[in-house]
Amino acid sequence: MRTADVTALAALGSIALFVVGLKRLSRVRSARSGNQLMAAGMLVAVVLTLFELGRVDWRWILGGVAVGAGVGVATVLRAKATAMPEIVARFNGFGGAASALVAVSLFWAAVVEDPTATSAVEALGVTAAATAVLTVLIGGVTLSGSVLAELKLRGTVEGPARLPGRSLAMAVLLGLGVAAGWEAVVAHDATLPVVGMLVLVAASLLIGVVLVLPIGGADMPVVISLLNSLSGLAAAAAGFALDDPLLIIAGTVVGAAGLILTQIMCVAMNRSLLNVMVGGFGGDVEADTSEYVNVRSSDAEEAAMVLEAAERVIIVPGYGLAAGRAQNAAHEVAKALIALGVEVRFAIHPVAGRMPGHMNVVLAEAEVPYELLVEMDRINQDFPQTDVVIVVGANDVVNPAANTQPSSPIAGMPILDVASARRVFVIKRSLSPGYAGIKNELFERDNTVMLFGDAKQVLDDLAAHLHLARR
Ligand code: TAP
Repeated sequence: MRTADVTALAALGSIALFVVGLKRLSRVRSARSGNQLMAAGMLVAVVLTLFELGRVDWRWILGGVAVGAGVGVATVLRAKATAMPEIVARFNGFGGAASALVAVSLFWAAVVEDPTATSAVEALGVTAAATAVLTVLIGGVTLSGSVLAELKLRGTVEGPARLPGRSLAMAVLLGLGVAAGWEAVVAHDATLPVVGMLVLVAASLLIGVVLVLPIGGADMPVVISLLNSLSGLAAAAAGFALDDPLLIIAGTVVGAAGLILTQIMCVAMNRSLLNVMVGGFGGDVEADTSEYVNVRSSDAEEAAMVLEAAERVIIVPGYGLAAGRAQNAAHEVAKALIALGVEVRFAIHPVAGRMPGHMNVVLAEAEVPYELLVEMDRINQDFPQTDVVIVVGANDVVNPAANTQPSSPIAGMPILDVASARRVFVIKRSLSPGYAGIKNELFERDNTVMLFGDAKQVLDDLAAHLHLARR
């Protein structure tokens, strides 16, 4: 077999690993192996690219791998599960920056380093030159937008900030970027292309800032998913500039996956992407902020007595479970109930928490078996036959106002229909609202009992009482 055939086959294998890996990522149970398959695909792609390039100095490559891997491992080891969105934002930014740097270096080698060069278009061809400009534009937006998104999530930058004339500023910057990109690749001059490239980089960075600045910190997960998609598009554009089919396919897969995820989040929050990008939750609809009446509360001991007598129990985790690091305690309660012969499942809402898959991640950290986790669409029909629901630090995702109040900011958002169960225990510290900032009429329902307190503390107490019941 010829070398060209071997590399073509390896490229095909790498592409197949990406596609199969992505498919496996769509199910919780197969997600881990999907991730490993995609990592293997990436390894094959990197080795293949280096093999094809041939002339690259291995010391630079090994140095880059060592620095990159060191930063990656250190970042992930230090990170808390609740800080995952920040890390994803940072990695997206690096992805965009890497693609932009590849495009700039391609331009540099073709125009600045080559004394015989006339213009980038003549040296690289129209497709490569145009996609190099596009790569810098998208990569720059991804970098500055992601850095700002991370700072907003950390609370370093407060938001949302009002930006009067934002659309005009965006149009002007985009026009400037395109004009500068044009000069960079067509000018025959010695300095004009470099100036053009610098202006293009500056304009793209500013576009990222203008795009993300007016968006509220709590909407950042949607924005980060969108930026993730942009980082993929930047890589795909770099693939065109380098004429590398592998990079085109890998970038397109990331771009499409990010876009689908953005859409899933918007649908699950019943908001349009435009509404998120314009900023502010719920627009001009009215929220019910009246005082609570008829709220009953109890303690862990009484709740444990009700749970012991139950046959079917569903636990609904929300943002408060992750924030209170209560996932292990929730698993303990589930184990104690199962030991008592109770059927226990966890109901997963697609936007519970603050990032896609947030509840899956924290429950996996506590080693809750995957088969106990049931998605909203499948479990909603089971609530009427459920004896007890334990809501742990969830609020908006169980708020019946989504179905009963057409003027509510969350009207139409699909919710977990816990109110139709026989008894609902809600564990949270107070009657404070959740992310949407609205009253939850579930807390006033006759079958709801509040267990006020920190999620971990209340669940620890519950587990202790349930363990006592076994003896
Ligand atoms: P939320 O509605 O945000 O409610 C969380 C509740 O947790 C709060 O009401 C809070 O009440 C309680 N809490 C906080 N810390 C706690 C602790 N240590 N112990 C016990 N309770 C604690 O959460 P949710 O139901 O998961 O809904 C998620 C919201 O985020 C939705 O509105 C969704 O649209 C939005 N969102 C989600 C995403 C993704 S991708 N997941 C992205 C953007 C926005 P107390 O202060 O009274 O304890």
